[in-house]
Parts: sequence; C-alpha cells; structure tokens
Amino acid sequence: MDNTTQFVLKQKELFTKTGSVTWESPSNIALVKYWGKNPDQIPANPSISFTLNTCKTTTKLSYELLDVPSNKFEFELYFEGELKEDFKPKVVTFFQRIEAYVPFLKSYRFKIETSNSFPHSSGIASSASGMSALALCVMSLEQEINPDLTKQAFVQKASFLARLGSGSACRSIEGPLVCWGKHQEISGTTDLFGVSYPYLVHDNFKNYQDTILLVDKGEKQVSSTVGHGLMKGHPFAERRFEQAHENMSKLIQILKQGDLKNFIEIVESEALTLHAMMMTSLPYFILMKPNTLEIIQKIWKFRKESNTHICFTLDAGANVHILYPEQEKDVIMEFITKELVAYCQNEQYICDSIGNGADKL
Ligand code: DP6
Repeated sequence: MDNTTQFVLKQKELFTKTGSVTWESPSNIALVKYWGKNPDQIPANPSISFTLNTCKTTTKLSYELLDVPSNKFEFELYFEGELKEDFKPKVVTFFQRIEAYVPFLKSYRFKIETSNSFPHSSGIASSASGMSALALCVMSLEQEINPDLTKQAFVQKASFLARLGSGSACRSIEGPLVCWGKHQEISGTTDLFGVSYPYLVHDNFKNYQDTILLVDKGEKQVSSTVGHGLMKGHPFAERRFEQAHENMSKLIQILKQGDLKNFIEIVESEALTLHAMMMTSLPYFILMKPNTLEIIQKIWKFRKESNTHICFTLDAGANVHILYPEQEKDVIMEFITKELVAYCQNEQYICDSIGNGADKL
C-alpha cells in the first residue's frame, strides 16, 4: 500500500538558522506520456522519461529562521536576476501542497533565485526542472534540520515533493531513465514518486541524443494542468490509460534488446496519441503547428532514405524533440541543420542528450 505519512517530517527543533543551498535540476522528455491525473497529483497512468542533460533550472534557496513562525509563506522570488511577483502564486500553491510534509516552511524567510539554461519563453516546459530544483532545495534544508535522513530517503522525498509541484517534475531528480506511476511489471514503481528504471538497458540507448526544435515559442493556449483535467470524462481515456501500461510493458524488452525499430514505433505513437487526446477532448484543442507536421513528414522521409533511427516525440506544445542514437549523430545533425532548422522560430534549436539527474552545486 502506498503510504504518504512516511514523508512527514516529525517535529524537530530548528537549530538551522541561516544558510543557502543551490541545486541544478534538468528537464525530462517522456517516452510514454503522463496525460490525465487524479486528485493529489496521482497520475492516471504510468510514464517513463529520459532525463535531459543541458536543459536545466538552477535554483538557490537562501533561508533565515524567523523569531516566531509566520502565518503565511515568507519569500521573495527572483527569476534571472529580476524580482518576479507574477511567479509567486505557483510557489505558494507548491508550498501549500507540501507543507504537511515539510512543516518548517513557515518558520523561515526565503529568498529564491532561479534561472534556466534554455532561452526564456522557448516553449520548453520549465515546470519539471523548476519544481524539481526547488523541491531539492527544500530537501537540503530538511537535511540540515534532520541529518539522519538517508540518501535514498532524500531522493525519494525530493521526487515526492516535486510531484506535488508538477507531475512530470518527479522524473527529473535522477536519470537516465525514470518511471513514475505503478506498473505491474516494473518493480518499485509507485504513483507517489519517480524511480530509476531498474532493468537492463542496451548500449544502443546509452547517451541517446535529443535535439529540440523550437517551432513555436508563444504562450500555450491550454496549460498542461487544464489538459490533464480534460481527460476526465474523455471518451477514449480508459483505453488510453491501458495503452500506456501496455507500452511500458513492451519497452522493457525493447530497452533490453536495443530494439530501435520498435522503440521508434512506441515513442512516435505515444507522441501522436497525446496530441490525439487533446484533439478529441471537449473542448478540443491543437497544440501542434503547421511546422510541427512539416518536420514530422521530413523525419519520416529521411528515416526511410537514410536507414537511420531518427524519431520524434512531442510534449504539450508545438516543439519537436528529435531522438536518435549517439552513433548516428553526424549524419542526423547534418540533416537537421540543412533541412529542419528552417522550420524553427528564429532558426532556434537546442542540442541535448540523456543525463543523470540533478546536482547540488
Ligand atoms: C505532456 O507535469 O506539466 O509533458 O502535473 O499539471 O504540472 P502538471 O503537468 P505536467 O504534464 C506533463 C505532460 C507531458 C507528458 C509527460 O511529461 O509525461
């Protein structure tokens, strides 16, 4: 039975007065997508992602013990050096959701300084890297208060807290492959936090590349949270959730055998299914842009002609993540720069690869 009380910090005396901690936490790209959730950020289906290496958020949390605990969260938030009042409500919501597990939050005044490695408003979801970085900072303060915390308990609780900030954030603490959501055949999986994929992974998937084409950098018309909500009462939801379980099962063999052909089939099908769910919800919506489709068509054509293992996936937006094995990098990068960059806004793209998770600086 999943049990959240294990994550509640028992009352401790707060000897830790002032200090600061900095974490750098990456984004991740899902292979099997999380789309649909139940209350308390419980996913409707299991998901698995590659942790990224270059797309990261760096967050510094400075803390100062108050003489008497406040009745509200006391903090200032700086994004890329500027005070950001409009980012505060998200952090307040996050703190409200995690307060029961980290009851010391209102005993401190915080300064949060955060920045991203990827261009501002690139359409890259910063919630996974941002929420995981902040969750890790909070956990480092807990570690100061409670030095008995083991490394494993730290990592699990950091993922548990990150999940309460943004579901996919719980998959950014570790790498290179992380599962979130209970799955029958993958031991240790839980709806409460992400776990490192526990089985054999073939060398074909080592240092897999992800080149992210920035097709549209505008604000999304529909947020992920609203999109998840539209899976409630969605006519295809139940079948979709089953399919995610099936795809996770299939991936176990695929990852073990280095089966790139079937890997591509699952990854692309998951991406298109995610967007098909958006297009068939009520209200329906489309996050892909004409250039998203142009790029997909070009990738399919090139894959056929070149006999490479290039494939794409999408997150909840118009950008295209191009995934491929490291040994095909030269020929695929040549194709991307010659034929695909023209479809990107301001010709912008980001070269990333699989990473090992967050680092304390
Ligand atoms: C399409 O984690 O951003 O990227 O839990 O509401 O914060 P919230 O949603 P979020 O959803 C991510 C959805 C996705 C697929 C995935 O990453 O699995």
